[in-house]
Amino acid sequence: LSKLWGGRFSQDGGQRAEEFTSSLSFDKRLSRQDIQGSEAHARMLARQGIISEEECALILGGLRQCLKEIERGEFPFRQEFEDIHLNIEQRLTELIGPAGRKLHTGRSRNDQVALDMHLYIRSECQEVLLRLRSLQKALVDRAAEHLGVIMPGFTHFQHAQPVLFSHYLMAYFWMFQRDAERIAFCLHQVDRLPLGAAALAGTTYPLDPHSVAGELGFTRLYENSIDAVSDRDYLLEFLFSAAVMGMHMSRLAEELIIGSSREFSFYEMDDAFATGSSIMPQKKNPDVCELVRGKTGRLIGNLVSLLVVLKGLPLAYNSDMQEDKEAVFDSVDTVKACLSMLAGVISTMKVNPGRMRASMYRDFCLATELADYLAQKGLPFRDAHHVAGRVVAYAMKKGMDIWELTLSELQSFSEIISEDVYDYLDYEVAVQRRTTPGGTCRENVEQQIAKALALLEA
Ligand code: ARG
Repeated sequence: LSKLWGGRFSQDGGQRAEEFTSSLSFDKRLSRQDIQGSEAHARMLARQGIISEEECALILGGLRQCLKEIERGEFPFRQEFEDIHLNIEQRLTELIGPAGRKLHTGRSRNDQVALDMHLYIRSECQEVLLRLRSLQKALVDRAAEHLGVIMPGFTHFQHAQPVLFSHYLMAYFWMFQRDAERIAFCLHQVDRLPLGAAALAGTTYPLDPHSVAGELGFTRLYENSIDAVSDRDYLLEFLFSAAVMGMHMSRLAEELIIGSSREFSFYEMDDAFATGSSIMPQKKNPDVCELVRGKTGRLIGNLVSLLVVLKGLPLAYNSDMQEDKEAVFDSVDTVKACLSMLAGVISTMKVNPGRMRASMYRDFCLATELADYLAQKGLPFRDAHHVAGRVVAYAMKKGMDIWELTLSELQSFSEIISEDVYDYLDYEVAVQRRTTPGGTCRENVEQQIAKALALLEA
């Protein structure tokens, strides 16, 4: 078998170099996109009179046959043909004869692979969006289900102030909403047809890339053919979006891991998302969450990896760019799996409102309420803060919560304290008084949930 680019070469390259340079083992994954792009290219060549209608019909028939073989697992993938593009072209020519050798007119593998990656990442972005939506839906559903449940909100991982559990869950919803916006931006960046750039300079054939763009659903062409074959920004955009998404998922996973430990017991993972230990019979490990947290490492790594591949490259195409694929494929697989798993964890885990409530007993997360109460009665806030701090120290020594102190004990710290102070030293009241936009009071959280549901339906 002679290479498709064999004209210039005096002898076949060494087999080890062939193995080293081949991308077939991973770019097989682009078969469908490669065929779809070639079909559009062939039709355009015929419309422009560059190949005949008969040749075009032969090519389209041959490509359909290739697709069939690929789907049936009967396609003869051959490593000696380097990559998916050459494999399909070779097979096409075997199937239909010389017309197959006309398909590549006015095209280079440089703009061909760029098109394949555009088509690939465009459809994967849609899939990622769907899975993001499911995770967001799981969060809103749990938030709506548990409206009214109060938990300690944390800063510095110390109990800070009581918040609605739903409020806390919705914080993650909005993080994932920004991720969805990032993917939408990625789709905007992907929306440029690179085909027609050929190797780098454009081509002498009278191509009509506008019609190809229309057929393949792109609204724009690249303004510059050199840029068209060198651009991998749209892949970086995806890798960045996936890395941030991973970081968000990892934070949530971390909280679920901690929250399901015995010390917290806020949650219990469903058996389907946990595993046991081979030695300790009592164990129930939050493996799925641990792996979501762990796999975020590769999402971040893949972004860094492609940035480093690209950073020193002169224009235009360089073989280094072949290294974009495994990073992108891995991030696609990883982010999709993590999104689905996490949605499953969230929608099936048991929530324990009693433990959330109990964990706030004698933690003084109502100390701000006392300070606010004093400030409302006219004490400057800094002084109020000081008085409340002294009350906390006193209660701590007695091993009691603030609201367990008698009125006269409280009044010994400030005579402006009266009986109504107890109305403020209450978790529900503390939550309900936080009415600022985005705050934790029930009405505002309900509003968030309504907004979120509207977004999901849009
Ligand atoms: N396998 C190559 C890649 O993935 C396709 C483009 C190769 N172009 C070339 N002139 N060698 O980037």
